[in-house]
Amino acid sequence: MINLKDIEEELSEEISRINTISQLQQVKVKYLGKKGLITQAISHIKDLPQEERREYGLKANRLKEYAEELIKKAEERIKKEELRKRLARDWVDLSLPLEPAVGTAHPISQVLKKIRHIFVSMGFEVMEGPEVELETYNFDMLNIPKEHPARDMQDTFYVNREGYLLRTHTSPVQIRTMLSQKPPIYMIAPGRVYRRDDDPTHSPMFHQVEGLAVDMDISFGHMKYTIETFLRAFFEVEVPVRFRASYFPFTEPSAEVDIGCVICRGEGCRVCKETGWLEVMGCGMVHPAVLENCNIDPEFYQGFAFGLGVERLAMLYFGIDNIKLFFENDLRFLRQFL
Ligand code: DAH
Repeated sequence: MINLKDIEEELSEEISRINTISQLQQVKVKYLGKKGLITQAISHIKDLPQEERREYGLKANRLKEYAEELIKKAEERIKKEELRKRLARDWVDLSLPLEPAVGTAHPISQVLKKIRHIFVSMGFEVMEGPEVELETYNFDMLNIPKEHPARDMQDTFYVNREGYLLRTHTSPVQIRTMLSQKPPIYMIAPGRVYRRDDDPTHSPMFHQVEGLAVDMDISFGHMKYTIETFLRAFFEVEVPVRFRASYFPFTEPSAEVDIGCVICRGEGCRVCKETGWLEVMGCGMVHPAVLENCNIDPEFYQGFAFGLGVERLAMLYFGIDNIKLFFENDLRFLRQFL
């Protein structure tokens, strides 16, 4: 004789302890499955003597209904609890201010865009050249002789192919442009350049913008006007600008351009090394030998050229004293340039 009371108690006790759907599934099988305790109890009815069948049968069927009811309630309870847990876990505070994850241009890209915009508005065309460059365009045709220290392994990254290197400046784009176009030429060439240099103000990769104008009757005065106009547009103030005699193999005469220190306004500070001036670019009248190398007759055409470091201008413009900050991609730094 199967004791229905025992089954009922065991079931109630088990149901009260469980708290997952899979545990509930096991309980369901144990009691109501094909070989479940209650299923067996019901099929036991037919083995009983006639007079006991009715009462026992009634109880057994009631137990089955009770069990089904109990399981249904437990399922509701467990599902409700799981939902509550999930909501607690996935909780979102809708009152927090929205922080839209919108990307912005890198400060160097912003500065490059500004430089391009100023020169384009003055009638210059934007050109590009390869970063893996021919040694002859990077040096020889720019009048930089074989023994020149700039070619030294200390400065230049050479690649595993005879005659090629990572360009050390954007000046080879001058050569490419003069080889492919006839004057008048008014162009700038922004891009990455590479040097074996690494300290707080030098990075092995940095950006330059090269400029070149070749036309008839081009004078130093045109260059001076162009550069002064550019610098004042870039810094958005009437900065003092001075030209200092200098030397570059590809220009004659050559000059370095200084602006009045934008940090101390000429008083003298750490950034301008107490001089009140900051060097911002190199320039000069294109050397006749360079024009000849590109089949342009220096009797008819003259030109001026300049080259500036983008990171240097960006550091002065934004007041940043370590070039590495531009390349670390720290969002706390980059988010300041929205
Ligand atoms: N190429 C020079 C450098 O990397 C910069 C430069 C100076 C470019 C004078 C010019 C120039 O075109 O005329 O240091």
